[in-house]
Amino acid sequence: MRKQKVILDVDTGTDDAIAIMTALASPELDVLGVCTVNGNRSVDNTTENTLRLKEYLGSDVRVYKGCSLPMVSSLTDGRRPNMPITSLTDSNNIHGDYLELPPSKEAKAEDEHAVFFLIDTLMASDGDIILIPVGPLTNIAMAMRIEPEICKKIKRIVIMGGGYKEVNITPAAEFNFWVDPEAAKIVIDSGCDILIVPLDATHTGVMSLSDADEMEKMNTKASIYTASVIRKRQSGYKVWQPMADIDTVPIHDALAVCAVLDETVLEDVREVYADMDITNGVTDGMSVFDFDHRYKDRKANVKVALSANRKKFASMIKERLGNFY
Ligand code: RIB
Ligand code: CA
Repeated sequence: MRKQKVILDVDTGTDDAIAIMTALASPELDVLGVCTVNGNRSVDNTTENTLRLKEYLGSDVRVYKGCSLPMVSSLTDGRRPNMPITSLTDSNNIHGDYLELPPSKEAKAEDEHAVFFLIDTLMASDGDIILIPVGPLTNIAMAMRIEPEICKKIKRIVIMGGGYKEVNITPAAEFNFWVDPEAAKIVIDSGCDILIVPLDATHTGVMSLSDADEMEKMNTKASIYTASVIRKRQSGYKVWQPMADIDTVPIHDALAVCAVLDETVLEDVREVYADMDITNGVTDGMSVFDFDHRYKDRKANVKVALSANRKKFASMIKERLGNFY
């Protein structure tokens, strides 16, 4: 079976950690690299967290440190808090400053900056690489600005980000797109084959405390750590943004990886014209989806999933992480 080449772009983060482990645990995927970006925490922290995970798993995956600030959103006073974003947006410690894993010792980020790793790798490719960004889209948008030709070389971009009826950082926006709305707009407007996995999908494709108990019993390094992450996230979410079933919690980023593995994990997937609000008003950072085709002259530019199959998602995570290290 020919492996699907992928590049992850992460702001590790607890759900990013499960996404990375799921990708590494999947024999269907060839993870060419993991790029880090400012988002849940500073790029120094998101890189250290990714290296901690690499070392914990004993993985040889290459990690590339990326952008420390969004493209422009932090330049305007009062638009974005003084970057990098830290506990300002994680008051319930869903991520914490560092993953609860031993500090990295040997593992180091590669010398090449993530943006140039993306450009060099994509330009040298046969157009067979899927990008899986699960944090703010700064690295990918910067790569597109520096070398627009990469857009012809990207097979597909499967993005965790945005929200239609679901939001989490403002009354209008989802965190990844909100941190760097201009980057999200550049990627959405790129003409690439784009599948968006928004909060509407990740808030239905959740995992539960009983899933955590099951995973702990599987007794692999990946499943034990995933169980602890589910519990940590659920304790934060039940206070900050309780799900319909309070014993469940979204593992946003891992759903994007599962969508690359088996897109039927997503439900109600629609082709639609999408755009971003970058006007620094009350809905700044909002992802807009024209499901009713009210902009008659604007063609669909993305696919977006409005739901997910929770049972299938949980079983995919257990199947892969229950057999990994
Ligand atoms: O809004 C959810 C997204 O924001 C996830 O990617 C999470 O890791 C945070 O980056
Ligand atoms: Ca993330």
